[in-house]
Amino acid sequence: MNTKLAIFASGTGTNFVALADAITAQQLPAQIVLLVVDHPDIAVIERAKERNVPAFYLNYKSFPNKQAAELALVAKLQAASVDLILLAGYMRILTPTLLDIYPKRVINIHPALLPNFPGRHGILDAFNAGVTETGVTVHYVDAGIDTGEIIQQAVVPIEAGKGLAALETQIHAVEHELYPTVLAQLITTED
Ligand code: GRF
Repeated sequence: MNTKLAIFASGTGTNFVALADAITAQQLPAQIVLLVVDHPDIAVIERAKERNVPAFYLNYKSFPNKQAAELALVAKLQAASVDLILLAGYMRILTPTLLDIYPKRVINIHPALLPNFPGRHGILDAFNAGVTETGVTVHYVDAGIDTGEIIQQAVVPIEAGKGLAALETQIHAVEHELYPTVLAQLITTED
């Protein structure tokens, strides 16, 4: 049976598209049953519509606190029988209210070689640090900022003279390859 995925995103959704395309190409035995967003007007919602994936807007501000918001989200995930949650540019920290219900079932992709350069600006921070290599990390999510157990990493060299824009393009290309590949491995190993 196909693994049911929920993708959480806050922005453009290029990773959402890469995952959806891998499913269509039968490289990933899964189906995306829900997109979760924390803003009502972001590009990823259009990408989901084009693919008939329902989007759920979690308006955190309409709840008294984060715990109440996450409980509403869990109800939605359970109603959709979600097996695995994939963060793809989701700019919120999840708490044990949700994480304890999905142990080892929440995964994130980060554009740097964790534990180096966690946080919102992984590519820029690595670039500014002058390191000779950075990369992409797929990891389990815990309640910290990009601190969960690492599943797999891919290295991207930063050659002298490479500009930030070129590095960003390369990192994103690696992400779009790595995320579906790692998931396919995880899902097939579990079957
Ligand atoms: C990606 O670089 C991902 O690693 C980071 O946020 C970005 C999301 O991009 N966590 P997109 O919305 O998938 O295009």
